[in-house]
Amino acid sequence: MKHFDFLILGSGIAGLTFALKVAPRGRVAIVTKKDRAESNTNYAQGGIASVTSKTDSFESHVQDTLTAGAGLCKESVVRTIVGEGPARIAELIALGMKFSESAAPSKDGGKQLDLGREGGHSERRILHAKDVTGREIERALLDAISRQPNIEIFENHIAIDLITSQKLGYVGENRCLGAYVFDKKGNRVWTFAAPVTVLATGGCGKVYLYTTNPDIATGDGVAMAFRAGASIANMEFVQFHPTCLYHPKAKSFLISEAVRGEGGILKTLDGREFMDAVHPLKSLAPRDIVARAIDSEMKKTGADCVHLDITHKSAKFIIERFPNIHQTCLRYGIDITREPIPVVPAAHYQCGGVVTNLDGGTDIAGLFAVGEVACTGLHGANRLASNSLLEALVCAHRAAEKILSAPLPKSDFKIPVWQSGSATNADEMVVVAHNWDEIRRLMWDYVGIVRTNKRLQRAQKRLANLQQEIQEYYWNFIVTADLLELRNIAMVAELIVHCALQRPESRGLNYNLDFPGANPAWSQRDSVVRRGS
Ligand code: FAD
Ligand code: SIN
Repeated sequence: MKHFDFLILGSGIAGLTFALKVAPRGRVAIVTKKDRAESNTNYAQGGIASVTSKTDSFESHVQDTLTAGAGLCKESVVRTIVGEGPARIAELIALGMKFSESAAPSKDGGKQLDLGREGGHSERRILHAKDVTGREIERALLDAISRQPNIEIFENHIAIDLITSQKLGYVGENRCLGAYVFDKKGNRVWTFAAPVTVLATGGCGKVYLYTTNPDIATGDGVAMAFRAGASIANMEFVQFHPTCLYHPKAKSFLISEAVRGEGGILKTLDGREFMDAVHPLKSLAPRDIVARAIDSEMKKTGADCVHLDITHKSAKFIIERFPNIHQTCLRYGIDITREPIPVVPAAHYQCGGVVTNLDGGTDIAGLFAVGEVACTGLHGANRLASNSLLEALVCAHRAAEKILSAPLPKSDFKIPVWQSGSATNADEMVVVAHNWDEIRRLMWDYVGIVRTNKRLQRAQKRLANLQQEIQEYYWNFIVTADLLELRNIAMVAELIVHCALQRPESRGLNYNLDFPGANPAWSQRDSVVRRGS
């Protein structure tokens, strides 16, 4: 049993930001399932959207966010997050974050930050560190954390489930008391008790066969929160990034939207600029539109990918602005300064999640959710590029402020230690691997960019069978990280299908051929799901 004042699950931008803010007020545990930097954050390329230029305005950023969100964003949330962005960016810089600077000096002759452009933004407003923004964010935050004696990081520890008063049989308000955590190297389960638990576990790209996300993104936070009784919303809005590198040996390598922001053009394999006929912003249209257009071109032509061409820019510019993309593609034999990049859409971002207010509060007392795991209302039916890191920064700060504004609750609940199944059966591990593959493929085939009710229902039936098998397996055998993640992706897959079946319309990222248009009765209506509902 381990006791802390703050238990944070996840060490991406959301978890680390929150940890730094609360550390002066108590002992903090950060539990993270791989190495401390391994997170979606670490792979972020494009940057952080925020209004920092004199020619930009909050109103313009707000309107771009609302337009991308296709009528489902909560406007007050959008205004708050956009408005508080610059202060959080200034704090990040003060912590040591190094954003790329513009070659041109400002009007007063000083240095100014370089601003990138991405799809759906009507202004250049993306602060970035070349094309490795996330790596630099993790470096800066982890450096700052290493100077904080109150923070302990538990690497290779995977949270299994939240501990709640209701699950323990107490009546009254449902309160989160901590979490059971599997120590992968020590091969044992610890009980972490804390009056404040923060889910900062990121998204669920691994639910799909093809994704830009690293292996950690298995939707654990949403699955744990759902099992604990929290409300989950808008899981049907899975964002597919239009341009993931297509190469048999490349696993999940993103080609940043910033490449299109700097003039990259999408073309069919025979060189046709197909976005011209689709949207006035052409290759820089909002992501849902670009991803669907690529999907449609690939289906029409039978091609395995499309091309993204930036060869009209100078080699010097490309190498300086996109050093990581240039180097990585070279390793796969593609010189992006001379030839187009083969790309395909892939699952990228979870717009829905655990329902929270702007301060990370969920409907379970003592449980907070920040970052990609949360559904605040900022993204609506489709996230505007580079708004995710912004949301995580702003909401982690707000959650910390809110929590620190009152004394931490005292708890006299008795928490039992974890009871484990006792069986091991190496032969049966094949079941885990098989089910894992089956879920990811069926989600790709039946619950992808273009959906129909028939395919969703087919997915629902298969997932129900798989769930039964996984549940039996889970209770009988000693836990492993693979089994825990399988249980979570199965749960999250079910939630995505459930939410998609609730929504009788096409809106933003939820495109259903049975309901080709938006239904006004569903504008401003979230698809909410709760255990037992
Ligand atoms: P993450 O950074 O994903 O961190 C989650 C953490 O939780 C990890 O440490 C993980 O190990 C841990 N974890 C998960 N489950 C458990 C568990 N059960 N137990 C213990 N620990 C657990 N957004 C932008 O705004 N701009 C961009 O330029 C951008 N580029 C992107 C590029 C790529 C390739 C990807 C994949 C995403 C990109 N995004 C971008 C999205 C953005 O990076 C993420 O939404 C954001 O980083 C999420 O931050 P987070 O802190 O919520 O979660
Ligand atoms: C990218 O660089 O294209 C990713 C940006 C994002 O997901 O916000």
